[in-house]
Amino acid sequence: MEQDRVRPPALRRKICSAEDAAPLIGNGMTIGSGGFTPSGTPKAVPRALAARIEEAHAQGHPFAIRLFTGASTSPDLDGALARASGVSFRMPYNGDATMRAKINAGETAYVDLHLSKVAPWVRAGFFGKVDIAVIEAAAILEDGGIVPTLAVGNNKTWLDLAEKVIIEVNSWHNPAIHGLHDIWGGDLHPEERLPIPIRRPDDRIGETVFRVDPDKIAAIVLTNEPDQNASFRDTDDSARQIAGHLMEFFRHETAHGRLPASLPPLQSGVGNVANAVMAAFVDSPFENLFAYTEVIQDGMLAMIHSGKMRAVSGSAFSVSRDAAEILNRDMETLREKLILRPQEISNNPEIIRRLGCVTMNTMIEADIYGNVNSTRVMGSRVQNGIGGSGDFARSSHLSIFMAPSTAKNSAISAIVPMTAHVDHISQDVQIMVTEQGLADLRGLPARQRARLIIERCAHPEYRPMLKDYLIRAETGVYGGETPHLLTESLCWHQRFIETGSMRI
Ligand code: COA
Repeated sequence: MEQDRVRPPALRRKICSAEDAAPLIGNGMTIGSGGFTPSGTPKAVPRALAARIEEAHAQGHPFAIRLFTGASTSPDLDGALARASGVSFRMPYNGDATMRAKINAGETAYVDLHLSKVAPWVRAGFFGKVDIAVIEAAAILEDGGIVPTLAVGNNKTWLDLAEKVIIEVNSWHNPAIHGLHDIWGGDLHPEERLPIPIRRPDDRIGETVFRVDPDKIAAIVLTNEPDQNASFRDTDDSARQIAGHLMEFFRHETAHGRLPASLPPLQSGVGNVANAVMAAFVDSPFENLFAYTEVIQDGMLAMIHSGKMRAVSGSAFSVSRDAAEILNRDMETLREKLILRPQEISNNPEIIRRLGCVTMNTMIEADIYGNVNSTRVMGSRVQNGIGGSGDFARSSHLSIFMAPSTAKNSAISAIVPMTAHVDHISQDVQIMVTEQGLADLRGLPARQRARLIIERCAHPEYRPMLKDYLIRAETGVYGGETPHLLTESLCWHQRFIETGSMRI
């Protein structure tokens, strides 16, 4: 196994256990880690590091690191380090419940960033130096090329910038994974940047491997384990209804010539609802589709298997365990239709605008004018982060946001008078969908947007309250183009905090 997976003999001498590698990481260091969803997350070294941190704390010594990744990771990394109270600073995205609790308690500082901007900003020095890169690979080739696994994220940047590198070589991955990736750029400062030569979602413009100075490689740890993927929730009625409204909308738009018959390249956000919508394309009339997206979930793989999707470009997979097994088994054939890129390329506004993507992202809540909150529950507690939703929504040809019309057993309305936090301004939201219906907001002024969103998207239980708010705001003393009653606009959230429900 060693010979196959770590081919340069000089590098084989650096193979050691995770326990021997972990002491390379000291208190206060900045780690640039692999991981974009559980995919590509290093496993053994973070677990060994968490154990060292717990030991240090038990002996009364401080020990915390600064953790940079591609996006969310897995319980092996965010979970283990958060349980050990071992992270002082985290960026750019987290989806782990234990880490979320530390962040919301103010114990871990968190910077939530547009994912396309992380690498350029770290390269520019905005976040200080990166001490160690810890990444996962499927193999290291004779010429030193490092074959990535199921996520690329910011790994190229961590390898370029870190003083030392630890590589986990994970033999769980089918060797046929070599050829899946397209690693390009990431080494230019703004004034030297050239146009990115991607004209179609399936264009390949770079190398299939990462490159790093072998002298920087301080340790290689051999592993053999799958990613800790979670399963998607069974598609519930609301997700199916949202998908139905969207399919109807796409049929209507193609029939009227406003969208091409095979639709522009699609982007789909993260989570259960987004996955269900992509799965619905399998039974739709649309064919010859492409996706230029960030995260590839089960729904997109189902479209590849059904033959409806010609190719998908992303930065990482976020798949269930079953889908991961199939992907690994059939890698040799699937690789032709799948491309993983660094996230500054997968999410690059220049390409998203050039390709004219239709983007579909999920929200926590929206206000009656179409401003969207994707990240902060009750305006205060971060759920995950903005991820790539801003990269895609702002630069898209058509930006769609969707969610069930209520949350927490209908105690919360996803349509509110004013969002308690804004991630996406109304200018970046053209279509809004809930299980109740679809609001086409293109070209509408604020007051008409509000009427349509209330009529089409709000749950019937909350609709009268929203109508009442809008009418009183419109006829109130201050009126305006976007009328609000400022003493009331956030009282729905306050009521939920005080009573457990937004209902009066
Ligand atoms: N108020 C309070 N909580 C809400 C809520 C609201 N209006 N809407 C959803 N939630 C809660 C749900 O109850 C659920 O909580 P739980 O985990 O305790 O059950 C959680 O948020 C996730 O909601 P769910 O209905 O399972 O939706 P999802 O899995 O589709 O995720 C987002 C929805 C918005 C959290 C998720 O899409 C996200 O993080 N988006 C931001 C990043 C992004 O868009 N990335 C895409 C880039 S390509």
